[in-house]
Amino acid sequence: MKRRSIAIDGPAGAGKSTLARQVAKELGFLYVDTGAIYRTVALKTLRCGVDASQSQQVIPLLDHLDIRMDYGPDGGQRMFLEGEDVSQAIREHQVSGIASQVAAIPAVRDFLLEFQRKLAREHDVVMDGRDIGTVVLPQADVKIFLTAAPEARAKRRLLELEQRGASADYDTILRDIIQRDEQDRSRPVAPLRQAEDAQLVDTTALNLAQSLQALLAVIKEKIVL
Ligand code: DC
Repeated sequence: MKRRSIAIDGPAGAGKSTLARQVAKELGFLYVDTGAIYRTVALKTLRCGVDASQSQQVIPLLDHLDIRMDYGPDGGQRMFLEGEDVSQAIREHQVSGIASQVAAIPAVRDFLLEFQRKLAREHDVVMDGRDIGTVVLPQADVKIFLTAAPEARAKRRLLELEQRGASADYDTILRDIIQRDEQDRSRPVAPLRQAEDAQLVDTTALNLAQSLQALLAVIKEKIVL
């Protein structure tokens, strides 16, 4: 049976993971958060004391990298590094910047490419990331580029952190978002960009429910469910 795939790309904080998860639930597809996979590689470099900006230090780690993924009872994606559940640890702020650095290394991207494609061969997927529509699944049935103004993304992130009881500062968050966007857009391999055949969805002025409706409308135009 031909598997169906929905690629959702876009910058950090546009609501990709929340929305992609909801879309997957609605359609009964598997949700794949590819950022979490890059974050797990980043955590490995951090734990090994390796400088993630130096590709020659990171590449040898790939030979023995033991990464696994599964889905918990609530349907949430869990990441395992050497058998340890690191789903929480990879969300640490420090890991975000390192993930963006390791994601710029071509050997890391090549290493993870087959991992991601295999998932799409075996399941109907909603996959979110930066290069899903352009590189990982260029034949995806639906491609969406989800974005929002940096200020809107920073505000949402601030709210999320405050709700979790974490202390946060708007200016720092905004600066980090802009810096990470720049790093992800300007790297030579698989940079963050909208695929030519992707539909742009800008959520700056939309709340979560409206964003979900906008995404489902695009999807229903392209595939028969
Ligand atoms: O979506 P996220 O913030 O969890 O992603 C972490 C980093 O991984 C992000 O800076 C860019 C990178 N990434 C990537 O390069 N390609 C992907 N498909 C997913 C994430």
